[in-house]
Amino acid sequence: MLSLEGGMYFFLSCCWMLLSSAYDFANAAMIRSTTLFVNYGQSARINCNYSRTDETELMAVNIQTLNHTLCSLRFNGSSWKQQNCRDHVKFNWIPETEEISFELLNLQDKNTYTCTVTRTIPPPNMDLGITQVQVIVRPVLSLSCEKMPDGSTMILCSAGFHNDSLELLWIRDGEFFNSSHSNKSFSHKSYLILPPQINNTVYFCWVNHSSLNKPLIANLSSSACYENKGCDLMVTVAVAFVISAVLTVILVTIVV
Ligand SMILES: *[C@@H]1O[C@H](CO)[C@@H](O)[C@H](O)[C@H]1NC(C)=O
Ligand SMILES: *[C@@H]1O[C@H](CO)[C@@H](O)[C@H](O)[C@H]1NC(C)=O
Ligand SMILES: *[C@@H]1O[C@H](CO)[C@@H](O)[C@H](O)[C@H]1NC(C)=O
Ligand SMILES: *[C@@H]1O[C@H](CO)[C@@H](O)[C@H](O)[C@H]1NC(C)=O
Ligand SMILES: *[C@@H]1O[C@H](CO)[C@@H](O)[C@H](O)[C@H]1NC(C)=O
Ligand SMILES: *[C@@H]1O[C@H](CO)[C@@H](O)[C@H](O)[C@H]1NC(C)=O
Ligand SMILES: *[C@@H]1O[C@H](CO)[C@@H](O)[C@H](O)[C@H]1NC(C)=O
Ligand SMILES: *[C@@H]1O[C@H](CO)[C@@H](O)[C@H](O)[C@H]1NC(C)=O
Ligand SMILES: *[C@@H]1O[C@H](CO)[C@@H](O)[C@H](O)[C@H]1NC(C)=O
Repeated sequence: MLSLEGGMYFFLSCCWMLLSSAYDFANAAMIRSTTLFVNYGQSARINCNYSRTDETELMAVNIQTLNHTLCSLRFNGSSWKQQNCRDHVKFNWIPETEEISFELLNLQDKNTYTCTVTRTIPPPNMDLGITQVQVIVRPVLSLSCEKMPDGSTMILCSAGFHNDSLELLWIRDGEFFNSSHSNKSFSHKSYLILPPQINNTVYFCWVNHSSLNKPLIANLSSSACYENKGCDLMVTVAVAFVISAVLTVILVTIVV
């Protein structure tokens, strides 16, 4: 009798261990990171996918990078209470659809964000959904006319980007050239001095970096600089990429 009970117990705990390791495996296998591309300085929305089995369940949600928790909140059944949220992270909750999302403002650098929705009541705590999104930040090019104190006119090409190690070149009449007024320690900025006499030429600024799958190009006609006397003409190029599949924000959820 004793040995039968012991055997039964052994059998049951074996089953339990098998089941829970299968469950852990399923959990790990289901976290897929999706990729989102945003331009430097812009914002991204991370939708937290989850599923709650009934409306009496209370939840907590948090969004974190690999190292830091950026924002966490608790739901008491009627409203969310925020705990230590960074300024650049905004929480959104749509009561009608029960959708949860975070907006990340003014993104400067690539990062991986994980949103976790956890059931807190009834215990035990249980994951209702984990969404992981890898955000890639792309440079933004801008060309502007600048009037120098000595009266000369310059075109400034600047790439808004977290990483200074960009390859920046100019193109005129189909030919690549380096500006003699590039500042080597700030490779994301380059000045080009225009000849004093009015000369209508289209200048292209060309930038490449390992984070780009193709170079960015912006252009400016020098006539615009002469007409505007170097005021505030600005051409900002929001980059168009052919990354069709990845542009959709895809969310991955683990439903327990
Ligand atoms: C975050 O962690 C990574 C490695 O895990 C480390 O290289 C990086 O310096 C950390 N960043 C901060 C801000 O602590
Ligand atoms: C939830 O919190 C809000 C604001 O603190 C409060 O007004 C509300 O009564 C709370 N609801 C419950 C069910 O505790
Ligand atoms: C900047 O980009 C270069 C590749 O072009 C890379 O090796 C380097 O680690 C990057 N630096 C930072 C701070 O991301
Ligand atoms: C521009 O300068 C870099 C080094 O500073 C050089 O490697 C490159 O070949 C130059 N490009 C042109 C088009 O002159
Ligand atoms: C490069 O730019 C920095 C910051 O604007 C400035 O301090 C430095 O003197 C510049 N170097 C050259 C060679 O112009
Ligand atoms: C305009 O400028 C370009 C480049 O500096 C030069 O090749 C061209 O001869 C100039 N044209 C006139 C009409 O000055
Ligand atoms: C731009 O940079 C990427 C990554 O370093 C490289 O694969 C690609 O060939 C570069 N494109 C050009 C036109 O230099
Ligand atoms: C210059 O840039 C504009 C967009 O800012 C684009 O529509 C135009 O085609 C470009 N011109 C050339 C010659 O590439
Ligand atoms: C959210 O999770 C549900 C359940 O797993 C799934 O059917 C749905 O496709 C997910 N939505 C997104 C946008 O990933």
